[in-house]
Amino acid sequence: MKMLKGIRACVFDAYGTIFDFATATARCPDIPDDKRAALTALWRDKQLQYTWLRSLQGCHADFEQVTADALDFALESFSLENPALRERLLALYRTLQAFPEVADTLRQLREAGFATAILSNGTPLMLQSAVRASGLEGLFDAVLSAEAVQVFKTHPRVYEYALQQLGLKAEQISFQSSNGWDAYAASAFGMRVIWCNRYDQRPERLPGAPDHVIRSLSELPRLLGRCDAG
Ligand code: 2OP
Repeated sequence: MKMLKGIRACVFDAYGTIFDFATATARCPDIPDDKRAALTALWRDKQLQYTWLRSLQGCHADFEQVTADALDFALESFSLENPALRERLLALYRTLQAFPEVADTLRQLREAGFATAILSNGTPLMLQSAVRASGLEGLFDAVLSAEAVQVFKTHPRVYEYALQQLGLKAEQISFQSSNGWDAYAASAFGMRVIWCNRYDQRPERLPGAPDHVIRSLSELPRLLGRCDAG
C-alpha cells in the first residue's frame, strides 16, 4: 500500500471510529436480547438522519439533544418506552468504550510525531466524558466539536474548523472515519482520508474518494510512517 506523505495530524471521527456506540446497549441488561441489535442500529440511523435533516433545515440542536430524540424514536419503535431505561442508555452513551486498538494506535502515532485530534458532532461535554471513560485522556492534542460551528457533518464548515484549530492545510491532515459518508465528505473537502470500514459498508456514491480503506485503526501507523514535519 502507498504511504500518505506530508501528513502532520491524524484527525478522527468519534462515534463508531474511536468509541463503540454499541457498548451503550450492550451494557444495558434491561433491553431484551432479541431487540438489542435492531435497537442499536435504529438509534444510530435516526441520530445521523436527524443531524443531516437539522443541518439542511437550519434548525440546529446539539448532539446530546439529537441523540436523545433518536433514542426516543427507537425506543417507541420497539415498544420499549420507559423513562428509567432512557436515562440509563443516555448515561451509558456518555461513557462509551473505545475500540480495543485505539489507545495503542494513538500512542504509536504520537511517538511517530503526528498530532492527534477528534473532530466530531458530539458536544464538548459528551466527548470529554467518553475520552475519560475509555481511558484515552492525554492521547489527543485537541478534541474538536461541531458545536463550535453550530452545524453537523457533512457541512464543510465542520472540516474547515479543524484546519483553523490545528493551523494546517487540508492536505496535511489524515482524517479517519468509520462512516463512509463522513470519509467521502472529508475527501471532497480536500483532506487525505482513511476510511476505517469496520462495518463492512459498500462504497458511497457521493463526491470524494478515500485514499485508503482499512478494517481496524491498528493498520494506520503503517500507512503513515513517521511525521516528516521536521
Ligand atoms: C461523529 O462522531 C456522528 O460519528 C459521528 O461525528
